[in-house]
Amino acid sequence: PVRYISNNSSGKMGYALVEAAVEAGAETVLISGPVNISPSKRAKTIYVKSAKEMHVAAMKEATDCQLFIACAAVADYRPKQKLKQKLKKTDTSMNIDLIKNSDIVTDVAALSNSPFTVGFAAETPETTDCLEKLAREKLQRKKLDLIIANDVSIPAIGFDSDYNAVLVIDHDSSEMIAKTSKTILSRQLIVKISQMLKIKNKAL
Ligand code: PMT
Repeated sequence: PVRYISNNSSGKMGYALVEAAVEAGAETVLISGPVNISPSKRAKTIYVKSAKEMHVAAMKEATDCQLFIACAAVADYRPKQKLKQKLKKTDTSMNIDLIKNSDIVTDVAALSNSPFTVGFAAETPETTDCLEKLAREKLQRKKLDLIIANDVSIPAIGFDSDYNAVLVIDHDSSEMIAKTSKTILSRQLIVKISQMLKIKNKAL
């Protein structure tokens, strides 16, 4: 009830994507963890507090949508036990048992009628080649249509910054989008994804 495991995500990238999708005319649903940003009045917003709640909401919404973008920095593990009372400090060290959370974007991509599924990859690579390699592995393992990789070890982009620079990776190619505001980047990403969606729909 007092302490919890979280991360550095501000929600800026996800909320900018929602704005860009709405601007492009998409009926948009935002599933958001706790952040300090006002949501778009033109998108339906569902607030969640845990990875489990986000999984439930995402699986429900994803059954009836054409495009799913997973930008949230969802925890990979959660404490095995949720305490009712505050955990008191005693020894100099402490072990907390963690169990694996379901991987939301993997489960969405595995739906029988899955939407076009776009993941993000937050990496701390040594080189750009390494960023692509790490993200491409996620694209394939999670069976996504597209993955957007960002280097979160650079403070000027990624977590909590108003800017980002990404590598957009599909199964055949990759394209770098240089540092720009998350607003502009989101518009560029929505245009690119819309084009890919059109091509995929034509092929079906
Ligand atoms: O919010 P900001 O401050 O603007 O920062 C933006 C960002 C850095 C959070 C964003 O650009 C970003 O990189 N988001 C993905 C963060 C992440 O969790 O990446 P990952 O490489 O650990 O996960 C890969 C993919 O699996 C992601 O699409 C993630 O949403 C998804 N995932 C992860 C764990 C989990 N339990 N379920 C998931 O669906």
